[in-house]
Amino acid sequence: MCKFYVYSGLICTEGEFWKDQRSLVHKWLRDMGMIKFGIKRELMQNRIMEGIDLCIQEIEKLQSHKINPLNILMDTVGNIVNDFVFGMKYEWNSDTWKYLKHLQEEGVKLVGIHASANFLPILRFLPSNRRNMEFILTGKAATHKLYDAIVDNCERALDTSTEYRDCILKRFLLEKRDREQSHDELGKNCSREQLNHLLADMFGASLDTTLCTLRWYLLLIAIHHECQDKIYEEMRNYGIRERYLTDDIESLPYLKASIAESMRLKTVVPCGIPHGNTQQHTTLDGYFIPKNSMILPLQYAIHMNENLWPQPQTFNPNRFIDEDGKFFTSPNFIPFQTGKRMCLGEELAKMFLNLFAANILLNFNIKLGQDKDELDLSGICGLALSPPEYCLIFEKR
Ligand code: HEM
Repeated sequence: MCKFYVYSGLICTEGEFWKDQRSLVHKWLRDMGMIKFGIKRELMQNRIMEGIDLCIQEIEKLQSHKINPLNILMDTVGNIVNDFVFGMKYEWNSDTWKYLKHLQEEGVKLVGIHASANFLPILRFLPSNRRNMEFILTGKAATHKLYDAIVDNCERALDTSTEYRDCILKRFLLEKRDREQSHDELGKNCSREQLNHLLADMFGASLDTTLCTLRWYLLLIAIHHECQDKIYEEMRNYGIRERYLTDDIESLPYLKASIAESMRLKTVVPCGIPHGNTQQHTTLDGYFIPKNSMILPLQYAIHMNENLWPQPQTFNPNRFIDEDGKFFTSPNFIPFQTGKRMCLGEELAKMFLNLFAANILLNFNIKLGQDKDELDLSGICGLALSPPEYCLIFEKR
C-alpha cells in the first residue's frame, strides 16, 4: 500500500464509511437550505448574498479599470464557503487566509489527474514528484493545525451554549456527541482526524470548482458581449432592479442557459474524479475492464461530442432553451457527473452561480480588457480546468 494513502474525508473514501459520511453531509446541507424550494433555501441564499454584496462593492471600487477579478472572486466565494463549512470568515488581508489561498491555488495545480505518477506509480519517487508530495503533506499538516483551533472554538461554544453559525463543523460535532451518548458504533466514524479531512474536502470541493466556473463564465460572457444585453433585458422583464435575491427554478431561463453553456464548453472537471472497479472484472460497452482498474469518466468528451452538440466549439446558450422559451438540460450535460458519486453540492453550486452571475450582470457591463487573440482559451488543467489569466473592464450600468 502507498504510504500516502489516507482513508478519511469523503472524496477519497468508499464503502460503508463513505455512505455514512456522504449521507450525513447531504442531510446537513439540506437542513441548511440546499433544497429546491422553501424558506430554508432563502436562508442559504441570504448567506450567499452577504458575499455577493461585498463582491459587487469591491468591483465597484475598480470599475472602468482593467482588472483580473480572480482575487475578488476568491475572497468572496472563499468566505461564503468558510461560512458554510467552518461557521466563520477571514479578514481578506489576514496572513492565515493568504496562506490558505496559496495552498489551495498551488495544491490544485499539483494534484492533476493527468499527472504521470497516476499511471506509472514508480514515478512518484522522482525528485520533482517527491517535492510536490511534500508540499501537499506539509500543507495538510499546517491546515489541520489551523482547523484544530477553529474546532476547539466551536466545541467551546457548544459546551457553553454560546451561539455559533450553522455549518458542517458544528453539525459534525453535534452528531459525534449524539452518537457517543447513544453508544452508537458509528461514533467511530466521527474522529477528529476524520473531521479535519472532511472539512478540507468540503472546502476544496466547493471553492475551486465554483471559482473556476465563475471565472470561465465572466470571460466567455465578456467575449460574447451580445449575451449580456439579453440577460439584462430578461432580468428587467422579471422586475429585477437592484439585487437578485432569491433564485427559483423557473426564473431567468437565458441567464441559466448561458451558465450551462459555459459549463459545457469549459467543463471544469474535465476528467471527473477517478473511480475503480475494486470488486470484480467487468465489461462496459463491449470493453473488458480488469478488476482494480482506474476509471476516468471523460466528461469533456461527452460535452464536445458533435453528435450530441452540433458545432460543439461554439458558445450558444440557445442549446439549453426549449421551444417555449424555458431552460432545459439534456442527459448529455453532466458537469456534476451522474450516479452514486455525483457531486454532493450540485444545488448549492447552482445557487452560487446563478446569484453571482445575475447580480454581477445586473450591476455591470463587462468588456474584455485585452485582445481576445492574446488569450489561450484551451485552459490550464490541474485538478480543475482553469481559464488563463485575463483582464476585464466592469462598467457600472
Ligand atoms: C460549479 C461547481 C461544481 C462542480 C462543476 C462540481 C463538480 C463535481 C464533480 C464532477 C464531482 C465528481 C463526481 C464523481 O466522482 O463522479 C464532484 C464531487 C463532489 N462535489 Fe462537486 N462540484 C461543484 C461544486 C461543489 C460544491 C459547492 C460542493 C459543496 C457542497 C461540492 C461538493 C462535492 C463533494 C463532497 C464531492 C464528492 C462526492 C463523493 O465522492 O461522494 N461540489 N463535484
